[in-house]
Amino acid sequence: MSTTPIAAPAPPSERLPVTLPQLAEKKRLGEPIVMVTAYDFPSAQVAEAAGVDVVLVGDSGAMTVLGYPSTVPVSVQEMLMLCAAARRGLRTPLLVADLPFGSYEASNEQAIATAQRFVKEAGADAVKLEGGGSSVERARALVAAGIPVMGHVGLTPQTATALGGYRAQGRTAQRAHDVARDALALQEAGCFAVVFEAIPAAVAQALMERMEVPVIGIGAGASTDGQVLVFHDLLGIREGVGARFVKRYADLQAEMTAGVRAYTEDVRTRRFPGPDHTYSIDPDELERFRALLG
Ligand code: KIV
Repeated sequence: MSTTPIAAPAPPSERLPVTLPQLAEKKRLGEPIVMVTAYDFPSAQVAEAAGVDVVLVGDSGAMTVLGYPSTVPVSVQEMLMLCAAARRGLRTPLLVADLPFGSYEASNEQAIATAQRFVKEAGADAVKLEGGGSSVERARALVAAGIPVMGHVGLTPQTATALGGYRAQGRTAQRAHDVARDALALQEAGCFAVVFEAIPAAVAQALMERMEVPVIGIGAGASTDGQVLVFHDLLGIREGVGARFVKRYADLQAEMTAGVRAYTEDVRTRRFPGPDHTYSIDPDELERFRALLG
């Protein structure tokens, strides 16, 4: 990834929608690609205003906004609702939707039918699926059906149990080779980009020499073409410290709690609502109203 300073981004009103060729061009020019997750209208509006390139309606939303213990239980219907809400808050970033666990693995037909729903019903520009193996064949079928696909290798949370838990992948030569095999197969299948999650920086760097499509890293070091973070992780809208690769830019959970606590105290002590928060009525009208009430 280039360290050359780049020009300040255009103001939101002047930006044009991000396209797949633009992402490829960014890779060619060494301009970092910025991706963030969003799961609803306000988080998408924030991503839009901040000028990110790609918004991912990640199935991490299962945990961050729906409160599931993992990404596995989230349904297509739930993901469609999150994606459609994010779509309404976006104008320029490319919108990628995660295909949830169980919605694409069984067959190419299942994958195409699910992905088409995300495009037609929820306005996604592209879909993301996890892993190598049969996912490579699914990716190829989706691309042939005209649906842009982002791959995802390394730590793939939908199959975290099979990977031995939420832990870094590719930490032995053989496991790093497995990650490389999957990434290259997804690239060859026509994915327009691939996510590398939680792999050693040196493994990612070695693999970058073979990657012709943009690679978006999360916990994969600084050599990838772009970075992605989960909205709630980077803004601190969740409890706990999160994974090693998370950098926190705000502590909104604490700010939101303080705000709601102050409101609670104001209501209980009758400091809220005050005169500024109430509507008036003409005194004559009020008098007539009292008379009507009897
Ligand atoms: O679901 C998600 O948020 C993701 C990112 C971590 C890449 O897949």
